Amino acid sequence: AAVVVGAQAQTFPGSKPVTIVVPFAAGGPTDRVARDLAEAMRKFVPGGNFVVENSAGAGGTIGANKVAKAAPDGHTLLLFHIGMAATPALYRKISYKPLEDFEFLGMVNDVPMTLIGKPQLPANTYRDFENYIRANAGNLNIAHAGLGSASHICGLLWQSNLQSKEAMTTIPFGGTAPAMTALIGGQVDVMCDQTTNTTQQIESGRVKAFAVTTAKPLSNHPVLKHYPSLQEMGLKGFNLTIWHGLYAPKGTPAAITKTLNDALKKALKDPEFVKKNEGLGALVVNDKRVEPEEHKKFVAAEMIKIKAAVDAAGKYAD
Ligand code: MLT
Repeated sequence: AAVVVGAQAQTFPGSKPVTIVVPFAAGGPTDRVARDLAEAMRKFVPGGNFVVENSAGAGGTIGANKVAKAAPDGHTLLLFHIGMAATPALYRKISYKPLEDFEFLGMVNDVPMTLIGKPQLPANTYRDFENYIRANAGNLNIAHAGLGSASHICGLLWQSNLQSKEAMTTIPFGGTAPAMTALIGGQVDVMCDQTTNTTQQIESGRVKAFAVTTAKPLSNHPVLKHYPSLQEMGLKGFNLTIWHGLYAPKGTPAAITKTLNDALKKALKDPEFVKKNEGLGALVVNDKRVEPEEHKKFVAAEMIKIKAAVDAAGKYAD
């Protein structure tokens, strides 16, 4: 078996494509990062044909489970986000263990989030928006990408800070790409989503933006600098940045995970990939968090942090 594994590693990736599974709908923020990353990694794995496959549903847990159970040969990878750490706090049962069933390949980026509303909302500032929400308690809805998704966690923490859950009904989608379509069309009222999905929509006026979720405003970003941080608006200590990471099924040979981690490190320094991320308000990881062990430690710490936050949000965690 050792010989076979060695031979496999030597010939990886061979002629078979490397599929990056995105556990959310096509056209959304995770999909976007995955497609840009696939393009960058292709440059650094000779002969590597990286393709993206969407396997959406249940806050990313369907796609993650698919990768956890896939052959550990480096040809099926998972691009997930904060949901990797958040879903165990929100689902009674998940058929994989985030820390045990994957080889961690490294962290990809940090992504701030934005609180946005349908274009028809009368509010134009965060303060007006908050007043509008309180005044319309019971009649508004908030979209998200399933329990444990980034948009869900953000909406949950925001509502629990506002203590205005009664104001909004949550509407889950298979990703924030379809949720965004519903928001632009006015079928849903509010969403908290990653800047990688919202920046262009905000810029073109298709949605209204009210605040960013980082502790400080994003003053260096040409579009997002116009919006206050939730903390500035009085939500004490509010500071949420989500992240993406790349994973392979447990048991993928070390030589293959090394090839993939090396390619990831190079991709994160690829000027085109960096520029695309920065344009959409995200920051590519350029520190030790791209090391598999560091990323694993980070995710383990996030699991504890998010569980505490979800527990504290109490009745808001539907
Ligand atoms: C999320 O809210 O988790 C994301 O927006 C998922 C996605 O659609 O990529």
